[in-house]
Amino acid sequence: MSREQKNRRDFLVKLGIGAGGVGIGTQAAASLRSLLPNVSYDAPTTVKVGLPADFPDGMKFLPEQRLFVFREGKVFHAVSAVCTHLGCTVRAEALPQPETVEVGGAQLRVTHRFACPCHGSKYTGDGKVVSGPAPRPLLWFHLSVSPDDGQLVVDLAQEVGRDFRLTTA
Ligand code: FES
Repeated sequence: MSREQKNRRDFLVKLGIGAGGVGIGTQAAASLRSLLPNVSYDAPTTVKVGLPADFPDGMKFLPEQRLFVFREGKVFHAVSAVCTHLGCTVRAEALPQPETVEVGGAQLRVTHRFACPCHGSKYTGDGKVVSGPAPRPLLWFHLSVSPDDGQLVVDLAQEVGRDFRLTTA
């Protein structure tokens, strides 16, 4: 076999291996892609929860969102009901007397405290841990008013500080 023939044969062998590799790679990518759904199952993080007028002064529990929405006149804030220990839903207990406390540099009228039925964690009305095993305070979530229909909108992906207050018109 001449040197030219050998080079030609080597070239064709490499070309064949390369083409086979590309074919296998393309097939593998297609197979992997077929395992992924074409739709997103992520739940929306913003939820409309009703008109401000639908909320009584004081506290309203939203079981679907596992959320407490507090109202004092035109001022609203929302506290998560998800215990920061292992995620049970905490229960609100009405205080014998409402208290005014300073939370995040702003005054807050506190009407409830929270207790977790699973392992006994207790929280103040603004969500601070009083006794464990909960490692962190309850989350506060961002509230806004929908420009479409005036409903309150909670963003369950947007944690806010304890000085957050939504004042409605
Ligand atoms: S889940 Fe709430 S104390 Fe364990």
